[in-house]
Amino acid sequence: MFRNPRSVQVKREKIQRMSHFVVEIQRLVSDQMEQTISRTNDLDDASKPPLYIPESSESDRVPQEHQRIPRSQVIAFIALTFTLDFSSYSFRSYSSGSCLPNSTMAAELGHGNCLAWAARNETGTLSPYRFDRRTVGAGDISLKIKYCGVCFADVVWTRNKHGDSMYPLVPGHEIVGVVTATGSNVEGFKVGDHVGVGTYVNSCRNCEYCDDFLEVFCSKGATLTFNGLDSDGTVTKGGYSSFIVVHERQVFRELSISIIMYQILDIQYCYKIPDGYPLDKAAPLLCAGITVYSPMMRHKMNQPGKSLGVIGLGGLGHMAVKFGKAFGLKVTVFSTSESKKEEALNLLRADNFVISSDKQQMMSLMKSLDYIIDTASGDHPFDPYMSLLKVGGVLVLVGFPSEVRLLPISLNMGAKSISGSMTGGTKETQEMLNFCASNQVYPEVEVINIQYINEALERLIKRDVKYRFVIDIANSLN
Ligand SMILES: NC(=O)c1ccc[n+]([C@@H]2O[C@H](COP(=O)([O-])OP(=O)(O)OC[C@H]3O[C@@H](n4cnc5c(N)ncnc54)[C@H](OP(=O)(O)O)[C@@H]3O)[C@@H](O)[C@H]2O)c1
Ligand SMILES: [Zn+2]
Ligand SMILES: [Zn+2]
Repeated sequence: MFRNPRSVQVKREKIQRMSHFVVEIQRLVSDQMEQTISRTNDLDDASKPPLYIPESSESDRVPQEHQRIPRSQVIAFIALTFTLDFSSYSFRSYSSGSCLPNSTMAAELGHGNCLAWAARNETGTLSPYRFDRRTVGAGDISLKIKYCGVCFADVVWTRNKHGDSMYPLVPGHEIVGVVTATGSNVEGFKVGDHVGVGTYVNSCRNCEYCDDFLEVFCSKGATLTFNGLDSDGTVTKGGYSSFIVVHERQVFRELSISIIMYQILDIQYCYKIPDGYPLDKAAPLLCAGITVYSPMMRHKMNQPGKSLGVIGLGGLGHMAVKFGKAFGLKVTVFSTSESKKEEALNLLRADNFVISSDKQQMMSLMKSLDYIIDTASGDHPFDPYMSLLKVGGVLVLVGFPSEVRLLPISLNMGAKSISGSMTGGTKETQEMLNFCASNQVYPEVEVINIQYINEALERLIKRDVKYRFVIDIANSLN
């Protein structure tokens, strides 16, 4: 009998998918039982007190039955004759004894499996330090860190500017490395992959924001990459270190009567660096890049021909200029540093460069901008910038001045708005990395050795960086 090779191939693929599914179900059932037992014995991540949550409480939690199913990526519908409910199920990893109090004490004395540089007090001076990272759990990935970007946040927390720094403090949340080990449940990564880790390494995975892949706004507080509380109760330590262990997030959801809808969401707390993207240049994307890309997309700034103002030409600011140009915007830089003018125009291809203290230059731009992204790390007036916006224009604040003070008329006249933003979710972070690779968007970096870090942080404060320091961890931390 004649058999169409294509239909044979399709059938074969269907059978393969079915058998894969059955294996998957078996794994789900056994994991569900195992994790249920673990969850009743140990409190899970979400129930541990988070560090940066303003006022979260038990009552903030969304009951499981009310949680929404994310909209995207339903992978398979398969008919079965039984009912199971794995809704809002997510894998968690459990760490071994390496983070018990004994080992923490030992780490304080300078022992441990991970070499790092840490600040010990509010002077913020960094020096070598050893501590223990947890062993790789079933849902974990371990990566050897190659590069780590130096964000202004590293200055803020090493010097305890927010009053919540926990010493010894290992900063760094623009991490790029190579996978060296994966847990048995990890599917999205393999040894040798180039990956990045950004500003957070975990979240509750059950709230409306986690469901929408906006984990950075997690109701229970995302676990920050450094100076946060990890699932095992230890204080997280960042990328000025030789390796890091992070969670992969796989989500399986919703099985119902006779129809099984199961879904694997390929979402992680670490990201794939696209093939061929230089690893040193990838590092700044994990914080500076996503912090400006996220609000630019949210406020639909990717409309060619519109005009964007960027306040402050540092790590975040220069990425805003790069994205602005990639989106086809007319970009004006507002800077306090005359020395950045030539590069802003010729290297970053900004259309206009204005020294913000020059009133005449500022006046000439009245009501000319559709959007402004404010990345300045220090205090500055807001009213002069609001007057540069067109009717309906928006200023997005991503920097952290000590206060935001402006006249009501600056908003009312012209129906303008001011909005904030905070890094970005896992999905949009991966999207941003892919965008940079496809559109040849590369940060400008000054690669340094870890031994230079104290000078680099001083230079950052003096606005003397073009435009992101990136530490060559692999070649200098040893
Ligand atoms: N929202 C978030 O999620 C997020 C994420 C990362 C960082 N941040 C914050 O964003 C800000 C920028 O971070 P970054 O890493 O890009 O810092 P950065 O590399 O040091 O750049 C900041 C730039 O702001 C300008 N600036 C500094 N002080 C100023 C002042 N008083 N008035 C006007 N401009 C001033 C300088 O640019 P010019 O020399 O051109 O004037 C400076 O280079 C920081 O406050 C940081 O904490 C926020
Ligand atoms: Zn940062
Ligand atoms: Zn959450």
